[in-house]
Amino acid sequence: MTTDSNPRSLTQRPDWLALQRHYQEIKDLHLRQLFADDPTRGERLTIETPDIYLDYSKNRITDETLRLLINLANACGLRERIEAMFNGDTINVTEQRAALHTALRAPRGESILLDGVNVVPDVHAVLDRMAFFSEKVRNGQWLGHTGKPILNIVNIGIGGSDLGPVMAYEALRHYSQRNLTLRFVSNVDGTDFVEATRDLDPEQTLFIICSKTFTTLETLTNARAARDWCLQKLGDQHAVSRHFVAVSTNANEVSKFGIDTDNMFGFWDWDGGRYSMDSAIGLSTMIAVGPDHFRAMLDGFHEMDEHFRHTPFERNMPVIMALLKLWYNNFFAGQSVAVFPYCQYLKRFPAYLQQLTMESNGKHVTLEGANVDYQTAPIYWGEPGTNGQHSFFQLLHQGTRLIPCDFIGFQQALNPLGDQHDLLMANCFAQTEALAFGKTESEVKADGISDWLVPHRTFEGNRPSNTLLLEQLTPKTLGLLVALYEHSVYTQGSIWNIDSFDQWGVELGKMLAKTTAEELQAEAEPRLAHDSSTNALIWRYRRLR
Ligand code: F6P
Repeated sequence: MTTDSNPRSLTQRPDWLALQRHYQEIKDLHLRQLFADDPTRGERLTIETPDIYLDYSKNRITDETLRLLINLANACGLRERIEAMFNGDTINVTEQRAALHTALRAPRGESILLDGVNVVPDVHAVLDRMAFFSEKVRNGQWLGHTGKPILNIVNIGIGGSDLGPVMAYEALRHYSQRNLTLRFVSNVDGTDFVEATRDLDPEQTLFIICSKTFTTLETLTNARAARDWCLQKLGDQHAVSRHFVAVSTNANEVSKFGIDTDNMFGFWDWDGGRYSMDSAIGLSTMIAVGPDHFRAMLDGFHEMDEHFRHTPFERNMPVIMALLKLWYNNFFAGQSVAVFPYCQYLKRFPAYLQQLTMESNGKHVTLEGANVDYQTAPIYWGEPGTNGQHSFFQLLHQGTRLIPCDFIGFQQALNPLGDQHDLLMANCFAQTEALAFGKTESEVKADGISDWLVPHRTFEGNRPSNTLLLEQLTPKTLGLLVALYEHSVYTQGSIWNIDSFDQWGVELGKMLAKTTAEELQAEAEPRLAHDSSTNALIWRYRRLR
């Protein structure tokens, strides 16, 4: 392995330039040709761990492409960057923090030192408190203020304090305790809260206020609305302690809000919001599916952590997936990546991935603060299959853009219904085949299609995809999948030399919204000093509301 310690621009590195030359050589190579040349390709370009099978053969790569991409990863010091993350180094440089989410799923008894202190016992102490509390709610022992058991759990949070919990709840609904109703409120639009609570009884409702900072406008506004909603019916301030718990790193703000810190579940500044669904932020998940399933999910995360840390890059699933995405993003000028879980339970997975990938790697400067001269994160999007096939897949097959796709499927259905799972998976496999191989002009003509229609009926193919096949959607496989994408994101961020763990890009809008809210609500006409467009919008809104 050769690590190039010279911090010259990524695009000047010999390994990058070699990839550029290689791109020129193979950019027109068709997947039809690649498969014809190597009949073993479909089995060879795969990676199998005990729980996931990745088929990456339908990518526009040769063995040489992989060799060059791995050379680049080595030259960028990926191995050292991985170790730095697992060792708790300050890899989130702009916030001067570690990014130690891997400690959240470290087995009891393991030792991970941060500033000389083992963090694992604290992680497990919180998990144990969560488990104790969850069991009480699940078995009806945690009573509301009027003595009735809790039946409704409303998670209030946004971003990482919402998307992970709601995605995991939806994904693991099959394993959830069905007498409990779970709802998720994130938007500051009052509709979100009102619709989520309209049919709930405050006497049997528990609110989990999830916020790492406990200063987020949306979450605190909704938390206040929840408190008012609860107290309107229950009438007594003391009810708060039975109907509100907090998940946060900020005990001061939690108690200022009026939640007893005995009812607070903590986590740590070394865990970023979008990397926190496996921390106490996952309390709603644990209540829904129970502590054993939650721990099984953590085992899945940990299994992928170990794979990422110890497997040579040639067989390292997160690394290979990251390098393939980088190949399209930086050499084919691909602008987006689509993710299609062929699994209805994973309907919120693409939304979850959007924050994970784009908040992490949507950066325009390097760790040293220099402007990058290459593209960083592509746009992530997706929908469960087969729904997308009947809306936007037209563009994937015959549009003008190159959009690499990830297809995710499971061997076993959780809800077997006739032959529906076979039909689902048949569609999954068929889409990857159609994208890769298309249908040539002569094949279309051979079907007897009129000449004038032939161009419309032709599929050029050569559209890349990965297929991830797992045995069944379980808590463990969900953990594996999430960790797979987490580590893929970090791999890319390491090569792009950016900080994958900060999110300064969200600050400006938040700050402007604060001033604007004051201007919208001021009694007297405010003196506006925005641009003419923003001023006019504010005046108009004030006049017409
Ligand atoms: O505004 C972006 C962000 O800071 C995300 O990174 C985070 O997940 C979300 O807001 C919520 O933050 P908090 O958990 O502190 O309320």
